[in-house]
Amino acid sequence: MDIRTVPTTPFSDQKPGTSGLRKAVTVFQQPNYLENFVQSIFGSLEGSQGATIVLGGDGRYYNRQAIQIILKMAAANDIGKVLVGKGGIMSTPAASAIIRQYKAFGGIVLSASHNPGGKDGDFGIKYNITNGGPAPEKITEAIFERSKVIESYKIFDAEDVNLDKLSVLRIGEMAVEVIDPVEPYAKLMESLFDFASIRKLLQGDFKMCMDSMHAVTGTYAKEIFEKRLGAGSGTVMNGTPLEDFGGGHPDPNLVYAHDLVDILFGENAPDFGAASDGDGDRNMILGNNFFVTPSDSLAVLTANATLVPGYKDGLFGVARSMPTSAAADRVAEKLGIDCYETPTGWKFFGNLLDADKATLCGEESFGTGSNHVREKDGLWAVLFWLNILAETGKSVEDIVTEHWQIYGRNFYSRHDYEAVAKEPAMKLMDRLRGMVKDLPGKQFGGYTVDYADDFSYTDPVDGSVSNKQGVRIGFTDGSRIVFRLSGTGTKGATLRVYLESYEPDAGKHNVDTQEALKPLIDLAEEIAQIYQYTQRKEPTVIT
Ligand code: G6P
Ligand code: ZN
Repeated sequence: MDIRTVPTTPFSDQKPGTSGLRKAVTVFQQPNYLENFVQSIFGSLEGSQGATIVLGGDGRYYNRQAIQIILKMAAANDIGKVLVGKGGIMSTPAASAIIRQYKAFGGIVLSASHNPGGKDGDFGIKYNITNGGPAPEKITEAIFERSKVIESYKIFDAEDVNLDKLSVLRIGEMAVEVIDPVEPYAKLMESLFDFASIRKLLQGDFKMCMDSMHAVTGTYAKEIFEKRLGAGSGTVMNGTPLEDFGGGHPDPNLVYAHDLVDILFGENAPDFGAASDGDGDRNMILGNNFFVTPSDSLAVLTANATLVPGYKDGLFGVARSMPTSAAADRVAEKLGIDCYETPTGWKFFGNLLDADKATLCGEESFGTGSNHVREKDGLWAVLFWLNILAETGKSVEDIVTEHWQIYGRNFYSRHDYEAVAKEPAMKLMDRLRGMVKDLPGKQFGGYTVDYADDFSYTDPVDGSVSNKQGVRIGFTDGSRIVFRLSGTGTKGATLRVYLESYEPDAGKHNVDTQEALKPLIDLAEEIAQIYQYTQRKEPTVIT
């Protein structure tokens, strides 16, 4: 037998966060670190014997090595077949689509999403279930529990697989099929959007620019926008996936996607710009000199969904994470559909999508998606916007400002205090948690607290409860401040402060967001004493 059982000892820090286990590359490179976690995954799966799983990653540093290890461990753990992306690469939404299309048992996705890559960057791994979505907490908890008591792992002694050639081969009894992940994904997009109408738009005077940030979507975006939709070559910038993302931080926001921002806010700016992140599930949408907040993007897609073939019959409902603005709620109300408020983390949308309670989902953290897969999907959002632009013939700015005229504007911003010391950050949160019950009715300047709590969510499908999901303080005028600690950071703690105010008067929509939110920004400091706990006067990132 070529299966080796290797003795090991547990690591205490293998608790999956918001989106899988995410650590510095150097942590994953410790002997047995990856193996322990992978064995804990395989050990937690019931019924995976002889099953097919999907395997791919965002192509960052250590992706290739990890894929080889996981393939050999899958073979030793009785997996029947692994569908692996060419080069070991698959965008997260493509992995989700492929799990669904091939009716696979599940999938292992290697990604640290938007975190920087390279030797000194981050790496990550997560498990997705049969519906194509991230494993629910019940499974991630089981994986964590196993990781704490693991004594050995199993690995097949075999040669490395050639990942660069489309082929079917074997490791022991297990089949390995190296597949092209772009084709099934592009086909899925063609089934949802009016490619003929978008092609007409892109071949006319309309100019767009897609920034793949040297990350995974480059290959997909070139195929879809440049080839299938006939946008000029060069439409996709930073389109060659690199192991270190060109030294950049592949997070599509106004701070990190500065190449694109400079173009869209420069002279002779194109009509439309978009960016996606390391593993292709996030998106940022820009118009000529115009930024669309992710919260507004979800609201606009919801309001205009019936213009798009895949959604022409309307939506079951819409879902947003708790810190995301209430802009989508207003659209849902008008459409007479349900709007769900979930904790941060795409996994919480899975049940709502499976149960046909929601069709579109979105998060303030630049994630938007639908029931076509069970992950958020960057290029899907870009195509959705293009489809709306093609159908209406309007500019991005017109679409959004007209939307505000109808629904009012939710001014929105997130202030991040990154890499602060963990303990005081937790104390800050504990203090807020202790305060919430006494806040309702209290006055702060012109603001009266309407409600305050530490958000708790009961899943309407399976009844599971998730507590301590962030402190929210809502005021009687519809504005809101939310405090929570990031579950995806890898250095110290990251405090996120989410600020939102509502302005129904179209005459006041043209104000700078930070200016409109200034009173709330000051109030956040007054209530949470951010400086005292973090020693930071300013946030490190504002989105
Ligand atoms: C990942 C998850 C999202 C989440 C985001 C921010 O992208 O997939 O669901 O909104 O991280 O999470 P954090 O815990 O860092 O605020
Ligand atoms: Zn991502």
